[in-house]
Amino acid sequence: MIEARGLTKRYGRVLAVDALSFDVRPGIVTGFLGPNGSGKSTTIRIMLGLDAPDRGVVRIGGRRYRELSWPLREVGALQEARTFHPGRTARAHLAALAASNNIPATRVDEVLRLTGLRSAAGRRAGKFSLGMAQRLGIAAALLGDPGVLLLLDEPVNGLDPEGIRWIRELMKSLAAEGRIVFVSSHLISEMALTADRLIVIGAGRLLADTSVAELSARSSSLEDAFLELTSGSAEFRDAGGTRRPAGGPPAAQRPGGYPSYPATGRTS
Ligand SMILES: Nc1ncnc2c1ncn2[C@@H]1O[C@H](COP(=O)(O)OP(=O)(O)OP(=O)(O)O)[C@@H](O)[C@H]1O
Ligand SMILES: [Mg+2]
Repeated sequence: MIEARGLTKRYGRVLAVDALSFDVRPGIVTGFLGPNGSGKSTTIRIMLGLDAPDRGVVRIGGRRYRELSWPLREVGALQEARTFHPGRTARAHLAALAASNNIPATRVDEVLRLTGLRSAAGRRAGKFSLGMAQRLGIAAALLGDPGVLLLLDEPVNGLDPEGIRWIRELMKSLAAEGRIVFVSSHLISEMALTADRLIVIGAGRLLADTSVAELSARSSSLEDAFLELTSGSAEFRDAGGTRRPAGGPPAAQRPGGYPSYPATGRTS
């Protein structure tokens, strides 16, 4: 289990994460949902020990990330695509990661197969399309066969419907194997198809720890329920960190604030 307790992070004038507490359990896909700028990436960076919170703590199986002896073998993370040397081939990139984390080299071909990259393994990763780069990022996250969890920050961004469905099915199957799968998104429509549990934040604060069905039942549609839940927190924060309404429509309803989602094949 992941336990986040009282996480608070301020960047200058912006209170990015505000006394946030939640649990993430194994065996299900947990969606981490919130409008743009609500603090999802900051929270994930804190969970991965890449950013220090001003207050609060995250424990993964009872330990902090920095206390894990072989993090890559316990926690698989995908933060953004293209975190690789562009001149390296996909296989060389994964082989280097495996070597530095004491992971058997045979695992490289396994994750290349799992992510559908076998035929592209010898190509320079810098020339990969967005979807291929995303698959390579997921291959790296899976390299250590992390039993504990996968932290994925917006993994379907920019992917085509086939790629989105592939990631969705992969997340479900990894959760079904008993792993912790924690995936962030600003797209309620995608989370409705993927997540069993939803942790919804707005302006860095916890708004709901709920299921898709429970959230859906709050309004006429799941999207309405999400917009109603998050509208009150889509405000700017002044220099003192207190919140004042921005006056205009909530960020979630502005163009760019909540992009419409391309229709994809539903699985049900
Ligand atoms: N390194 C940083 N320096 C200054 N401000 C930051 C930094 N990282 C995040 N912020 C601010 O913290 C707030 C939360 O940002 P964060 O990236 O965590 O949101 P998010 O929910 O991931 O958004 P998105 O859906 O757009 O990815 C924003 O106001 C952002 O501008
Ligand atoms: Mg983000």
